[in-house]
Amino acid sequence: MIDFDYKEKKILLANFNGKIYATDRICTHADADLTTGILTEEGVTCPLHLSTFDLATGIPQNLPAEIPLKIYNVKIEQNEIYVEVE
Ligand code: FES
Repeated sequence: MIDFDYKEKKILLANFNGKIYATDRICTHADADLTTGILTEEGVTCPLHLSTFDLATGIPQNLPAEIPLKIYNVKIEQNEIYVEVE
């Protein structure tokens, strides 16, 4: 997982088994940075209270988080990764 900022957006870019996902990187529960969380086949797990978010949908799989992460379309062309943030 890596992170980047674009304007006011804080984005998480995750590579799981060769598939690239882009989501907001700040947990919707209490502002933890998901880049320091754990990446598994279930998604990204928040380092603070351990909610896991599905990377494809942004939907939390367990409490305490209840609000989905915003997800972004990703496109790969000629080894360049493009994230549609607007
Ligand atoms: S801050 Fe992420 S689950 Fe609480």
